[in-house]
Amino acid sequence: MIIEPIEFKLKDGRKATIRCPREEDCQGMLDYLYQSAGETEFIVRYPEECGRYTIEYETALFEKINGSENQAMLVCFVDGKIAGNCNIAWSTRIKAKHRASVAIVLLREFWDQGIGTRLFQELLKIAEKNKDILQIELDFIEGNTRARALYEKMGFRITGVKPNAIRLKDGTLLNEYSMIREIKR
Ligand SMILES: CC(C)(COP(=O)(O)OP(=O)(O)OC[C@H]1O[C@@H](n2cnc3c(N)ncnc32)[C@H](O)[C@@H]1OP(=O)(O)O)[C@@H](O)C(=O)NCCC(=O)NCCS
Repeated sequence: MIIEPIEFKLKDGRKATIRCPREEDCQGMLDYLYQSAGETEFIVRYPEECGRYTIEYETALFEKINGSENQAMLVCFVDGKIAGNCNIAWSTRIKAKHRASVAIVLLREFWDQGIGTRLFQELLKIAEKNKDILQIELDFIEGNTRARALYEKMGFRITGVKPNAIRLKDGTLLNEYSMIREIKR
C-alpha cells in the first residue's frame, strides 16, 4: 500500500517528510538498519545480524509492501537522511484479519523530536480506513520507557507479558510486553 507524502516539522523546527520507500532508498535503508541495530537494546537485531539485508532484498521488500493490500511501510526523512521507519501489517485470514501489528524504529539522533508520534498517527489512519481492523497490536522490551510512553499516549494498553523473551549478549534476560489499541467502529 502506498500513501501520499506528508510534510511536517520536528520539535526543533527542522522539516521532515514521511513517505513510502522507493528503490533509490535501498542503500539508505541498509545504513539505517545497521546503525539502529547498534544504538539500542530495545530492538531484536544486533548489527552483525543485518547481513541478510541487501540491495536486492530491500528492492524486493519495498515492491512487495508497496504493492500489498494488507501492509504499509512509512519512512521518515530529515535533511535527505532516513531518520526511521514503521510498518503496519494485517492478516488476510478470516479469523485474524481484525488484528494489525505495528513496529517502529528511529535512529537515536532523531529521538524525542515527535517523529514517533507523527508516524503512529499515520499508522492509526491506515488502520481506521481498513474496516476489517478492530485492534492494533505491538510488543516492547522491558525498560523501553520512551516507547511505552509513546504507545500509551497513542491509546495502547498492556495486555500481557512474555517472561525472559529477550536474552542480550551478556546474558541479561528481559521480559517482553504486549500492548493492544482498539479501533472504535
Ligand atoms: C521509541 C521511539 C520510536 C519513540 O519515538 P520518538 O520520536 O522518540 O517519540 P516522540 O518524540 O514522538 O514521543 C516520545 C514521548 O515519550 C516521552 N519520553 C521520552 N523519553 C521518555 C522516558 N524516558 N520516559 C517516559 N517518557 C519519555 C517524550 O516526552 C514524548 O512525549 P511527548 O511528545 O508527550 O512530550 C524511538 O525513541 C525509537 O526508535 N527508539 C529506539 C527503537 C525502539 O525502541 N523502537 C520501539 C521498539 S518497541
